[in-house]
Amino acid sequence: MRSSSVSRALMVMAVAAIGLGASPARGDGPSDKSFKKHCSACHTVEKGKNKIGPSLAGIVGRKAGTIEGFKYSDANLKSDVVWDEAKLDIYLEDPKKFMPGNKMVFPGVKKADERKEIIAYMKSSQ
Ligand code: HEC
Repeated sequence: MRSSSVSRALMVMAVAAIGLGASPARGDGPSDKSFKKHCSACHTVEKGKNKIGPSLAGIVGRKAGTIEGFKYSDANLKSDVVWDEAKLDIYLEDPKKFMPGNKMVFPGVKKADERKEIIAYMKSSQ
């Protein structure tokens, strides 16, 4: 009797541990950690709020170079890119390679999981 209740307690603990591991998010959307680390010096996700770089509000699905009042480079303006998740992933890994001549002074985010987090965050905040 005693040993079976101990093993039942162990099983309950194991199930609880698996449950915790499977759900790292706290239900409040993708983390802004990587965006803050890499992007927020120059960008916001708020509409109409440009910094050194243009506002990234609504960036997923938006055509490049379309924030009014922001002085883009010709490379960006003439790129004809529509930013989707796949293009953002390639751009953010190496901005100069994807869009030669663009004026975003940024070496890129080399870690794929950080790029994924950044794109998910931008998408969730639009
Ligand atoms: C040092 C400042 C700086 C940092 C850091 C920076 N950017 Fe930029 N970003 C810019 C500038 C300036 C432009 C405009 C580029 C141009 O006109 O060629 C730009 C353009 C962009 C564009 C194209 C916007 C459009 O309207 O076409 C995207 C998307 C973008 N940045 C995403 C990011 C993300 C995501 C990060 C973080 C991983 C980041 N940037 C980090 C300065 C920065």
